[in-house]
Amino acid sequence: MTGPVIAIDGPAGAGKSTVGRAVADRLGVGYLDTGAMYRAVTFAVLRRGVDPRDEEAVLGVAQTVEMTVGEERVMVDGVDATREIRGREVTSAVSSVAANPAVRSLLVDAQRSWVVTRGGGVVEGRDIGTVVFPDADLKLFVTASPRVRAERRVAEAGGDVDEMEASIIERDRLDSTRETSPLAVDPAAVTLDTSGLSIDEVVAAVVAEVEARSVGGGR
Ligand code: DC
Repeated sequence: MTGPVIAIDGPAGAGKSTVGRAVADRLGVGYLDTGAMYRAVTFAVLRRGVDPRDEEAVLGVAQTVEMTVGEERVMVDGVDATREIRGREVTSAVSSVAANPAVRSLLVDAQRSWVVTRGGGVVEGRDIGTVVFPDADLKLFVTASPRVRAERRVAEAGGDVDEMEASIIERDRLDSTRETSPLAVDPAAVTLDTSGLSIDEVVAAVVAEVEARSVGGGR
């Protein structure tokens, strides 16, 4: 029997990872960051000197890359890529890789297998409630204003807030307008705007939602 599946979607920098990890801890289940999978493929693409817009060559990389996306570390072809997948180069190339339908199909299969193997879990991304797990026990759409998201990213990683905000708006545009599985709110999703909330408040709100629905209860 499969345990609860909790889908968390939303734009970049809205607090999905923080929420996802906290909920997974609370329920004692695994956590999968699917954005890290797209980033890991992108890292391999750049490392092999492939053009991220060359759909066939990128698919070739996705089919042959050896990657492990764990909760602590991301390994790609035997290299620890945990830090580099968050870097500027990967971040600016990842939208092209994520827009590749064949790569998406491969990664969606891997995400479904992960859940089957683990017997449920918290899965975070852009299309989890809409495409990957339409029957998830709970779907959350976590969002925040571009300004707030930019401020949070800069507080974590440094940089300029205006530039960060512009890059976030551009990435939202690419993610929401691509043909395959664009970022969209599933009608069954609970939307959580984290703009005015602290991390603790966000986690408390999600845990309340989880408990109200008895997701994972009785296990
Ligand atoms: O969440 P993130 O910033 O690490 O995501 C990296 C990129 O991957 C971003 O362009 C959105 C894309 N992505 C996606 O298309 N589908 C997912 N399920 C997760 C991420």
